[in-house]
Parts: sequence; C-alpha cells; structure tokens
Amino acid sequence: MISTKRAYNFNAGPSALPLEVLQKAQEELVDFNNSGMSIMEMSHRSKDYEAVHNDAITHLRSLYSIPDNYEVLFLQGGGSLQFTMVPMNFLSEAQTASYILTGSWSEKAIKEAKLFGQTQQAASTKDNAYRNIPALEEIQFNETDAYVHITSNNTIYGTQWQEFPQTGEVPLIADMSSDILSKPVDVSNFGIIYAGAQKNLGPSGVTVVIIRKDLLEKANKNIPTMLKYSTHADANSLYNTPPTFGIYMLGEVLKWVEEKGGLEAIAKNNEEKAKLIYDVIDNSNGFYSGHATPESRSLMNITFRVTNEELEKQFLAEAKEAGFIGLNGHRSVGGCRASTYNSVPVETCKALADFMIAFQNKHQ
Ligand SMILES: Cc1ncc(COP(=O)(O)O)c(C=O)c1O
Repeated sequence: MISTKRAYNFNAGPSALPLEVLQKAQEELVDFNNSGMSIMEMSHRSKDYEAVHNDAITHLRSLYSIPDNYEVLFLQGGGSLQFTMVPMNFLSEAQTASYILTGSWSEKAIKEAKLFGQTQQAASTKDNAYRNIPALEEIQFNETDAYVHITSNNTIYGTQWQEFPQTGEVPLIADMSSDILSKPVDVSNFGIIYAGAQKNLGPSGVTVVIIRKDLLEKANKNIPTMLKYSTHADANSLYNTPPTFGIYMLGEVLKWVEEKGGLEAIAKNNEEKAKLIYDVIDNSNGFYSGHATPESRSLMNITFRVTNEELEKQFLAEAKEAGFIGLNGHRSVGGCRASTYNSVPVETCKALADFMIAFQNKHQ
C-alpha cells in the first residue's frame, strides 16, 4: 500500500505531483495494460506506448484548444536546451532577436541567442531587481526582428506576466516552464511556447514545445538533426527514443487537470491558494515583505523576506521543523519562496499561511 503521508511540498521544481496520478502510476508500474511489463520496459514503437504518446498530445491539444496549425512536440534537454534551439533554428547572423529580460532565465536565454545572431533588449526590469514585469508600452522591438522572447513566469523572482504583449507579424516565443497549464492561454498569440515538465506537467525529463507550423518551414536548415524542430515534428516526436515514462506521467497529469475542471478551474484554485499566502504578507505590517510588486505577482512562486535576517533564518528553520519543504529562496537571491504549483493542495497553502501568522505572533 502506498503511504499517503504527504509532505507540505513547496519545492520550485521538480515539485509536487498529484497524489492521484502517483497512485495510478504505482498501480500500473509493473504491469501496464495487462502487458506483463512496465511502460518503461516497452518499445517506444509498441502499440501500447504509441497510444499513451498520442493520448498525451490529444489531451494537451484539447486543454489549450491548440489550433491545427500548431505542432505539439515532446523533446529532451529541459527549458535550457530551448534557450539554444530557439535561436539556432530562428536566428541568423544578419538578424536581430528581441528579448525581454525579467529574470535569470531570460538572461540565460539571451546569452545563447548571442551565439547565433544579434540581440536587443526589448525591455528589462533588472534595474528594479526584477521585482516587476515591464508595462506593455515599454516594450520596444522592430517589425524586422526574428522573434520576441519572454519568460512568462519568473520562478526565481516570483513575477508573472498578467497580459501578454501583442507582437503582430513577429513571432512571440514564451518560456512557460513555470506556469504552463496554470491558467487558460490563447496559444494563437504565440509562435512558440516551451516548458520543461518538472513544475506543472510531470516529472523532469520531457520538454513540451508548441510550435506554429509555418515557422518549421522557415527555420534554419543547416543545423544538427536532433536540434531541428522539424525533425521531431516530422516524426511525431518519435525520431529517436523519447522519455517514455515522463510522457506517460504527463498524460496522466493532463487527465487529472481535466478531471479538476480544466484550465479555468485550475486557475481559480491557483488564485485562491496564492491569495492565502499573499494576504498574510500584506496584513503583516511589514513583518513579511513580498519581493514582487503587487501587480506583477506570480501565482506560482511567492517570494518574500522576513523582517530581519536572523528571524528569517529562524523562520526557515522552524518551518522545516514543522514539515514545510522547499521554502528557501533560490540560492542566487536568498529569502523565502513558496512554490504553489497546480498540484500543491489548498490545505497545504492554508497550513503555510497559518504557520506564518503563528510565527509572526510569536516573534513580533
Ligand atoms: C522559467 C524557467 N525557464 C527555464 C528553466 C530551466 O529549465 P531546465 O532545468 O528544465 O533546463 C527553469 C528552471 O527552473 C525555469 O524556471
């Protein structure tokens, strides 16, 4: 029997997965669909696996109402390899790509683009310690740009785009690694959406790419086979051995989201969860302070400081003692961070909110 003792898991990624999905995977682990073997032990060309693979694509298409002129790809290499694949496929020496800098992941993305062509910052909030997302009016790009790149949710700083820029004919490319599947998104606004799976989609090892088909035709041709999007699009992401177990888990997570009522319902739940914690911060008279400006706050990663460093250390130590996992801020910025991805239950967020209030009452 599976133990249902579940941690208060606020890890930033890999992070919590739905208990129901883990239990189903456990049930099917050694004998998938009466095959006498695990999904991990099967050929990726088998009928059983092919059904799982295609089912995952179908569920993602259905949840996001992905238009027919987009491909859904399952790749490897994480969000980080997408930082390279995007410019390798879509930028050349004579072209410029625009990047909007909203945190460390955007910085990593632009660094890779510089290897392939010209880049420019369409906007940056670095001077404000990445506390906010730029206003749409601040964004500057040219009609001739190869693309405009954004990070839709900034995992480390705890900010999230509330409204996406409209870039017209210039493809908008979004790294949605830390907020994919957290709310409805109009896919047709984007040229490419990419995301490593290990926050909202499933275990690490699979990267989802949603790409507009006309871009596949325009991509640079003289690049390595495995790094061409078209290689994977032409082969239904079965050009080589895909991360089969990760894709199976992704399919189960997608079905779980459907059972929860789809993306609208998930978004409402995420709002409710984040509000529990932001309300404590806002009502603490400065005992807790949020890193992000209120209008840019992320519903996925809540970043905050405790009134002084000594108490902050104590807060993190006492929280750990009380069973809260993953509350330390990213090693590059310190402080505290609660990641409240889709699979983190409301009760877990409520427990943290109560703990924060109790800690303040004790130490104020
Ligand atoms: C927004 C964002 N982009 C990219 C990455 C890098 O992803 P990966 O570790 O899958 O390469 C992360 C990792 O946390 C992230 O949060």
